[in-house]
Amino acid sequence: MGRVALVTGGSRGIGAAISVALKNAGYTVAANYAGNDEAAAKFTAETGIKTYKWNVADYDASKAGIAQVEADLGPVDVVIANAGITRDAPFHKMTPDQWKQVIDTNLTGVFNTVHPVWPGMRERKFGRVVVISSINGQKGQFGQVNYAATKAGDLGIVKSLAQEGARFGITANAVCPGYIATEMVMAVPEKVRESIIAGIPAGRLGEPEEIARCVAFLVSDDAGFVNGSTISANGAQFFV
Ligand code: CAA
Repeated sequence: MGRVALVTGGSRGIGAAISVALKNAGYTVAANYAGNDEAAAKFTAETGIKTYKWNVADYDASKAGIAQVEADLGPVDVVIANAGITRDAPFHKMTPDQWKQVIDTNLTGVFNTVHPVWPGMRERKFGRVVVISSINGQKGQFGQVNYAATKAGDLGIVKSLAQEGARFGITANAVCPGYIATEMVMAVPEKVRESIIAGIPAGRLGEPEEIARCVAFLVSDDAGFVNGSTISANGAQFFV
């Protein structure tokens, strides 16, 4: 059995593609999900990947869920903090609840996911952390003050974790997807989505598998010296 990889939000969208890519690369994958039991059951039936239900915004639930994964599959050496939500609204209309939901899930959720596995990675002198950020954490986005704040925060997290983990053989990197053909992007009003696609030099949305391949590289042994970095995969929509 290969190394154990945990993917949060791993049964749908970009996360599902990451789970499958890591399974195909020989990892034993645990895919976390928050609420959609039907999608998770379908995902397991189609891929054979085990799913685990907990809310990444809840530290105790994350800790208990990860303990269950480790009891079933073994120590988690690879963690992909992918789970994320949007609650888009122009700032003047954004409610404190929309702010809090996104911060709790997208940003605190990264802490809640990585913190429980970090001591084991330090002890075993190996770990791979990948956080799925976003182009909108790099450039900001009209209607996404909350989301952009969390995705920019992800970049600070991996740069700091990289410095703390390097001497223990742990790497922490971010992937910044551009606009990818997932339910999240399809939920953007059609007219807005069309204008977004018009602004992508590649002339199309990205595919989830194009992000999954970036992750598969970052967690591989070959990427041991890539630490604290950001891979942007956005069809040339934005350069840092
Ligand atoms: N730039 C400039 N102005 C804009 C704008 C933009 N991108 N979008 C809207 N506006 C303008 C509107 O034209 C409107 O102007 P007028 O008042 O002069 O007509 C004004 O802002 C207010 O617009 P609305 O009243 O339509 O605002 P709304 O309350 O309906 O909310 C919105 C609009 C929710 C922000 C909507 O535009 C939207 O969903 N935008 C998409 C945001 C986005 O890109 N989300 C990404 C989701 S996918 C994702 O997050 C994955 C990832 O990582 C990439």
